Amino acid sequence: MPSAGLADAVRGALGRVIDPEIRKPITELDMVGRVEVTDAGEAEIGLKLTIVGCPAAATIEGDVRAAAAAVPGVAGVRVDVSVMTKEERAALTARLRGPGQRTMPFGPGSLTRVYAVTSGKGGVGKSTLTANLAVALAAEGLSVGLIDADVYGFSIPGILGLVDENGVAARPTRVDDMILPPVAFGVKVISIGMFIDPEQASSTGGAVAWRGPMLHRTINQFLTDVYFGDLDVLLLDLPPGTGDVAISIGQLLPNAEVIVLTTPQAAAADVAERSGLVAMQTGQHVYGVIENMAGFVTPDGSVLDIFGAGGGADVAERLTARQGTEVPLLASVPISVALRSGGDAGAPVVLADPSDPASAAIRAVAGRLAHRGRDLAGRKLGLSPR
Ligand SMILES: Nc1ncnc2c1ncn2[C@@H]1O[C@H](COP(=O)(O)OP(=O)(O)OP(=O)(O)O)[C@@H](O)[C@H]1O
Ligand SMILES: [Mg+2]
Repeated sequence: MPSAGLADAVRGALGRVIDPEIRKPITELDMVGRVEVTDAGEAEIGLKLTIVGCPAAATIEGDVRAAAAAVPGVAGVRVDVSVMTKEERAALTARLRGPGQRTMPFGPGSLTRVYAVTSGKGGVGKSTLTANLAVALAAEGLSVGLIDADVYGFSIPGILGLVDENGVAARPTRVDDMILPPVAFGVKVISIGMFIDPEQASSTGGAVAWRGPMLHRTINQFLTDVYFGDLDVLLLDLPPGTGDVAISIGQLLPNAEVIVLTTPQAAAADVAERSGLVAMQTGQHVYGVIENMAGFVTPDGSVLDIFGAGGGADVAERLTARQGTEVPLLASVPISVALRSGGDAGAPVVLADPSDPASAAIRAVAGRLAHRGRDLAGRKLGLSPR
């Protein structure tokens, strides 16, 4: 007679096997079917994968074997791998999404804090800082998502090491119409670069031509169809300028708070201020300003103000006056070779070199954001006016 007690113990052990993409125990995902243990101590486990050719299949099966084999009394493990039926999969995606299925989970009323990082001027370090901030927040123990909303010049996959040796971005797994974001350094990441056919990317240099409505649909799809789960923080890396994407984000996520990035230069500060004003016009709150590419700290400790000084404080002051509530300067991140090379190598400096002055500045912002907690204020906004 098979041992029911032992089978329960095996099932219990399988509850500690996490689906690496969905990031939940496989038992909660109904991926475990029959579990029996024969008199000879052989565990027989029915494992149901979400889709055919599931990229995580080998990992999950290996973890299942290891978990079952570690149960005292189990002498061997047999895993029967099958694939969920269409109905089982539909039940799973509906359950993960929660009630009201295909609605966008991050709008007003959501407990997730949403920050959109914008700048006006290009090349000021939005993507580099947003990626590092996301990694630093995840290192603080928060559940973090990152949307690379820079459809023209996506760079997040590279900065976070989500590319292969040819620079082709990792591809998200799809479970029906649910998209599972790749995870890097604890951050769930989605980028348009993950949906571009590598052939096309090499012939166009990765360039994507988008018109406004298509952009809006894509951003909306990222917010709706990508399964991020329950996030503490969602960061959005915006393209430079005050164009269609910023306006779409303003419409889709009026609750998003905006972080304005500038360099210390007066000319950059003017443009940065404008991007903050556009956010205010769409009803968003500007949370703060980050100055990037501030004075380079030389090995002897002296500071070289390569791009001048004062732009960050200036933008913060001007936006405070316009908003009527304080827009603080959150950090001044110095020019840093380690920050730049970490971005090139896909190894974020906040983990690779935490004592680097740029790391320290970014981690201080992460600490400040982490201390805000969940967006409880958003709760009151659950009612929509008629
Ligand atoms: N503090 C810094 N010190 C040194 N290099 C930096 C710093 N911040 C960013 N960089 C480098 O500057 C370049 C531009 O940065 P990044 O791509 O993050 O800017 P961006 O604002 O996202 O640009 P775009 O407008 O094109 O999206 C990158 O090569 C990055 O490594
Ligand atoms: Mg960028």
